[in-house]
Amino acid sequence: MGEMIMTIENMSLEEIREIAKSKLMGICGVYKDCDGSPMRICQGQSYGKPLKFGGIGSGASFNNNFLALKNYHLKMKVIGEHFEPDTSYEFFGNKLSMPIMGASVAGVNSFGGESVISEKEFCRAVVLGCKEAGTVGWRGDTYTYSLEKTFGLDAIRETGGWGVKIVKPRDQDMIMKLYHMAEKIGCIAVGTDVDGCESFAMTTHNQPVFRKSVDDLKELVSSTKLPVIIKGIMSVEDALIAQEAGAAAIVVSNHGGRVLDHTPGTASVLPVIVQKVKNKLHIFVDGGIRTGYDVLKMLALGADAVLIGRDMVRAAVGAGIYGVKTHMEYLKQTLSKAMKMTNCKSLNDISQDIIS
Ligand SMILES: Cc1cc2nc3c(=O)[nH]c(=O)nc-3n(C[C@H](O)[C@H](O)[C@H](O)COP(=O)(O)O)c2cc1C
Repeated sequence: MGEMIMTIENMSLEEIREIAKSKLMGICGVYKDCDGSPMRICQGQSYGKPLKFGGIGSGASFNNNFLALKNYHLKMKVIGEHFEPDTSYEFFGNKLSMPIMGASVAGVNSFGGESVISEKEFCRAVVLGCKEAGTVGWRGDTYTYSLEKTFGLDAIRETGGWGVKIVKPRDQDMIMKLYHMAEKIGCIAVGTDVDGCESFAMTTHNQPVFRKSVDDLKELVSSTKLPVIIKGIMSVEDALIAQEAGAAAIVVSNHGGRVLDHTPGTASVLPVIVQKVKNKLHIFVDGGIRTGYDVLKMLALGADAVLIGRDMVRAAVGAGIYGVKTHMEYLKQTLSKAMKMTNCKSLNDISQDIIS
């Protein structure tokens, strides 16, 4: 009598992560801190092998994302009138419930196998789960994708275009074709992760990727009516080139520490880039962001919004669409709490003043 039956719809985030932990055994420890520390099972250099869930080489870039964020501290300002923070954010004309979106992660099936999660299921979980939480799921690109196999775009199509498609720096023609498909589906924006120009997964599967010049980027920007996002910016020089090319936004990102060993953490380079291009284009950031407190730090450092990578995988593997929705809601709750404790009623109130 009265025995509670556990269904997906009443699972807590902790339970979702426990399920992910068992399904991701040997791939991801679903640790309390996903910090890229050398002791973690995902870390460690595997010579001549594709990356799994960790960072490239020594893992320093992944670890630096975590350490850079940890270095900043929030200023408590709790005396004053009571209020409920407004976390809403406008993303290219669309009102979102929070300035937090699902990052463009792809190829999750390649390190877990279809029994962990299929690429189709993963894309649906991120896009539909983010939508249910009032935000947007971005979708990535990898060697299993082609003009015929468009897992991310298929999921976005299901929502009538509620998503962003990020295409690897493939040859120009192929990128433009994929942008065009995204435009037809009605995507909110498209973009390219320019830091994927040395992708091991792509090159070892006969899918060439390239460095992109300012003229290449200009060609991509003028090929579509959609806003174009350049992802993988870690220097002022590249940020200025993206601006010159007419990009609508950049993502300050080192790909979760997966593309070049020994880069700084994104929270360290963000303020320098913000100083040069703020208000010229939208600035998004990712890397090591695990809670709303981390989100608030990135916003205080000048980002307009943030992306969440690895935690979307754990949430989707744990409980699909519901898992992603639940995880996003957790991030929103902790951001709201952090805003209240630092006297920020809305995103406009967040500034460098609350961080040290
Ligand atoms: C398994 C995996 C696959 C990824 N695939 C892509 C991709 O296809 N395109 C892309 O732009 N970024 C990709 N990324 C990078 C993420 O978009 C994001 O930049 C990064 O995961 C953020 O760091 P975090 O995982 O610490 O949150 C991938 C990351 C991981 C962990």
